[in-house]
Amino acid sequence: MLPLRKNIAEMTGYVPGFQPDGEGWIKLNTNENPYPPSPRVVEAIQAELSSGGENLRKYPDAGSKEARRVAAELYGVDPSSVIMANGSDELLNNLIRAFADAGDEIGYVHPSYSYYATLAEIQGAKVRTFGLTDDFLIADFPKRYPGKIFFLTSPNAPLGFGFENDYIAELAERCAGILVVDEAYVDFTDVSAMELVKKHKNIVVTRTFSKSYSLAGMRLGLAVAQPEVIEALDKIRDHYHLDRLALVAATAALQDQDYLQSTVARICETRDWFSAELRKLGYRVNPSQANYIFAAPPDFDGKRVYDVLLARKILVRYFSDPLLQHGVRISIGTRGEMEKTLTVLGEVG
Ligand SMILES: Cc1ncc(COP(=O)(O)O)c(C=O)c1O
Repeated sequence: MLPLRKNIAEMTGYVPGFQPDGEGWIKLNTNENPYPPSPRVVEAIQAELSSGGENLRKYPDAGSKEARRVAAELYGVDPSSVIMANGSDELLNNLIRAFADAGDEIGYVHPSYSYYATLAEIQGAKVRTFGLTDDFLIADFPKRYPGKIFFLTSPNAPLGFGFENDYIAELAERCAGILVVDEAYVDFTDVSAMELVKKHKNIVVTRTFSKSYSLAGMRLGLAVAQPEVIEALDKIRDHYHLDRLALVAATAALQDQDYLQSTVARICETRDWFSAELRKLGYRVNPSQANYIFAAPPDFDGKRVYDVLLARKILVRYFSDPLLQHGVRISIGTRGEMEKTLTVLGEVG
């Protein structure tokens, strides 16, 4: 027997969305962007690789200074309020390591991103989940939530709705610890909690480059919070957590907001069209502020829809969770991919 910590020996580990081998798949299961990243990102990576990759010999900038500067300018905050990361998952992990000791409690909304629970398990922290009311508020959230961290996914994954800023500000007041607003999908909507960071010492906003910026393969994220929080996160991260290619990619992506807006607009247009068409087939489709929809077929059998699409090499996400098994989460691909998906669903109901 390995001398593992008890909680590591007992845990199962997170199972990420399936990445199929081979050609011919329509991949609508992990909320990737169907469009390539900005050409400026590709140029920046190529420039970094010029002279036979000479730059790769040297360590990258441990402080991600240029990327932080550009992000800070974009969000109207001081660079001391920004940290870059190796995917937003790295931030979620380090927030738990920084704020929750073994035995402490963290909380989140169920359904949302279950990776929070896996990270808490690794740390030996306890997890408390809260359900949703019919109008998408948190059910039974206490006047004073004593947990060390509360994770709020906004827009919610997989349901697609976002929380209003007044409500988020109120939650921050009620949290004794940190309120992490996980804005992985926020570029697909207009409401962001970023402004709240200036007024609330305990709000941390996390973002990813994996969805709206089409950079899931580079592993990039960032967080905005008051400098004290950023200092703590800086202390515990790996010093060279971002490689040279990721750093130049992050900077170039943030600098090309026009490209971001154009691909986001295409995805939102396809999402709204696809949602309307599915409703015509009798599906219940949650209004979505993200790059996916949660859709329930007329017989409320999500597994059947998943299997039917899988047989045609169309991958969507099915969750066996009792709250979600009546539907599937479908990432929004290109208009052509969604037309093919709709044709199959039209044939099989
Ligand atoms: C709600 C949410 N937060 C965070 C992440 C992780 O993103 P990243 O690729 O930046 O680690 C995901 C990825 O699917 C997500 O859905």
